[in-house]
Amino acid sequence: MLDVRSIVGLRRLDLDERLRDTVAGSVVMVTGASSGIGAAAARSLGRAGATLLLVARSEDRLQAVAQEIVEAGGSAKVLLTDLADPAATQSLVDGVQRDHGGVDVLVSNAGRSIRRSIELSYGRFHDFQRTIDINYLGAVQLVLGLLPTMREKRRGHIVNVSSLGVLFGAPRFAAYLGSKSAFDAFLRCVAPEVRGDGVAITSIYMPLVRTPMIEATQVYGLLPGLTPDEAAQRVCRAIVERPVCMAPRLARAGCLARDMAPATFERLLESVYRVSDDSAAARGDGDARFEVPRFQFVLEQIGRVTSRLRSQDA
Ligand SMILES: NC(=O)c1ccc[n+]([C@@H]2O[C@H](COP(=O)([O-])OP(=O)(O)OC[C@H]3O[C@@H](n4cnc5c(N)ncnc54)[C@H](OP(=O)(O)O)[C@@H]3O)[C@@H](O)[C@H]2O)c1
Repeated sequence: MLDVRSIVGLRRLDLDERLRDTVAGSVVMVTGASSGIGAAAARSLGRAGATLLLVARSEDRLQAVAQEIVEAGGSAKVLLTDLADPAATQSLVDGVQRDHGGVDVLVSNAGRSIRRSIELSYGRFHDFQRTIDINYLGAVQLVLGLLPTMREKRRGHIVNVSSLGVLFGAPRFAAYLGSKSAFDAFLRCVAPEVRGDGVAITSIYMPLVRTPMIEATQVYGLLPGLTPDEAAQRVCRAIVERPVCMAPRLARAGCLARDMAPATFERLLESVYRVSDDSAAARGDGDARFEVPRFQFVLEQIGRVTSRLRSQDA
């Protein structure tokens, strides 16, 4: 009899084969490939035979990912770019058009998160500028630069690594989720215009993933999270299946609850806000004592239930 682990193993094998069929010989750009989800996705895509264009700012970390891909028999090129800089992003687009004739798949993954209450944000307009610069404007500029060739060739895929929070909102994430939601809305407007030209757009509403992005917030240690490899699997599945969106099952139920009872849902988020605190990093005082959540037991139980439900999404 097959146990759950062997079923997951078979599904993984199946995905690996289908990924190879989909991307072997294709040019795939992964932004934010120097760390976390982007680095893990780039490794999987490299193993599947894609030519990887690795974009981020940290040269040594990008080179290390590229080297791993090449040593595993794949092909990867490092394209150092600060996507928050419009001139640098334009020169990235121009170089990719010139050297590769565009890309077949764009994994728009580079991003920056800020978790800070609105109360601590009154004097920090720059938080909103720096999240919008990378999570929205940089991502939009890349799409504007790479989409025309995809449409001319009548094939292409844009994969947006978005956040579960975009579906619900979340206290303390106004800057981050404002910018992620803007890109999500942009893509939802563009998708129907380009679908007829063979270009698919997928948004993945990722749950918590254990990457450097969440390290500053201790409370996340109590919640279940995907590994970067598990998150990368979702990116790979999106590339193979080209769905409009991907979200955990629990999130779909959450959307239903939010639509049916918005005031109750908002009260629930208010409770989340009240039992949690700004991190030491967000307060800028290096004092971690407030980060121990007041209802640790409740959080742990929520973690247990969601992790059980999450295993059904794998
Ligand atoms: N971790 C989570 O729980 C979670 C949940 C939902 C969604 N997401 C989304 O997943 C994506 C990847 O995040 P992650 O968790 O893998 O975080 P991560 O490990 O911190 O990686 C972020 C990546 O973005 C790159 N990046 C940041 N600013 C950039 C800029 N100005 N120009 C170019 N590249 C830039 C970073 O590279 P350099 O610093 O080298 O430039 C890094 O490679 C993000 O879009 C995030 O919003 C994450």
